[in-house]
Amino acid sequence: MPMTKPKVFVTRQIPEEGARLIREFCQAEFWPENLPPDYETLKSKVPGLDGLLCLLTDTIDSSLMEAAGPGLKVISNHAVGYDNIDVPAATQRGIPVGNTPGILTDTTADFAFALLLGAARRLVEGDQFTRAGKWKTWDPMGMLGVDIHQATLGIVGYGRIGQAVARRAAGFEMQILYVDPACPQENEPDENGAICVDLETLVARSDFITIHTPLNEATYHLFDRELFSKMKPSAILVNTARGPIIDPDALYWALSEGVIAHAALDVTDPEPIPEASPLLTLNNIIITPHIASASQATRGKMALYAAHNLIAGLKGERLPYCVNPVVYDSDKTSN
Ligand code: DGY
Repeated sequence: MPMTKPKVFVTRQIPEEGARLIREFCQAEFWPENLPPDYETLKSKVPGLDGLLCLLTDTIDSSLMEAAGPGLKVISNHAVGYDNIDVPAATQRGIPVGNTPGILTDTTADFAFALLLGAARRLVEGDQFTRAGKWKTWDPMGMLGVDIHQATLGIVGYGRIGQAVARRAAGFEMQILYVDPACPQENEPDENGAICVDLETLVARSDFITIHTPLNEATYHLFDRELFSKMKPSAILVNTARGPIIDPDALYWALSEGVIAHAALDVTDPEPIPEASPLLTLNNIIITPHIASASQATRGKMALYAAHNLIAGLKGERLPYCVNPVVYDSDKTSN
């Protein structure tokens, strides 16, 4: 008798590295469009599912899990961040949630550094200037930026990606400060020369500030008017983590009033940034469309990890990368 394959929904087309495995093992429906399904459409797709592979653009809340029904065995997020998923609600239902940690660390750190360099050295403006036919001569005072080497870098969130940025910064002989809930007790510089400080010290002393913390209640709109007021007027702020860590109104105020010099964002609040956002009227900001992890190799690995998590969950095995391993506490047989 032919075995029935588990039924899964994949909320977008994903790289073949992962898609191939999913097609082999599952009866899979892949959302065919470039834009994500809206919440109600997604909700209409989930009843009777065994597994769901979703993206950071999909809101996976308790009501959606309810709609899926008791057969839902796994939720696999095609991202390392999982603030789009109500993890406590999944845990309550005993559903393991998977993510893709580690593999996008260096790719994201490369991009954070690219944004930092681009903002400091006016890369985007320089390109636009050239294309507009304004390059008429070598100008001793034209397009002056600021030096990165030997400047002070503040890293907010010193996990895998924050530390990968620090390794790059060490090559530029930067002084590195960081804030992290896990500050070492003996606060000696680490192998990158980075020192843990409090947030106020970090923002007051840094020439560049780069955000690498997850989005949660503590970090939502962490960068508000008050914090911007404590930064150097020459400060450059980079965000490749999650948009809502910065209050966009406060950022507009800080950039337009000269409270800080420049921002370079790969993530915005909301996302995508509305066409009418006042931030888009400013010259001292670079905004890219959430592409920090977007190298071919890394997106392929993310798809593979997400597929492995999905399939493990469908087989009743422990997810290789599980954000709520507490779901296994009462199940000593899973491995
Ligand atoms: C993630 O995986 O959380 C990233 O934001 C994707 O680029």
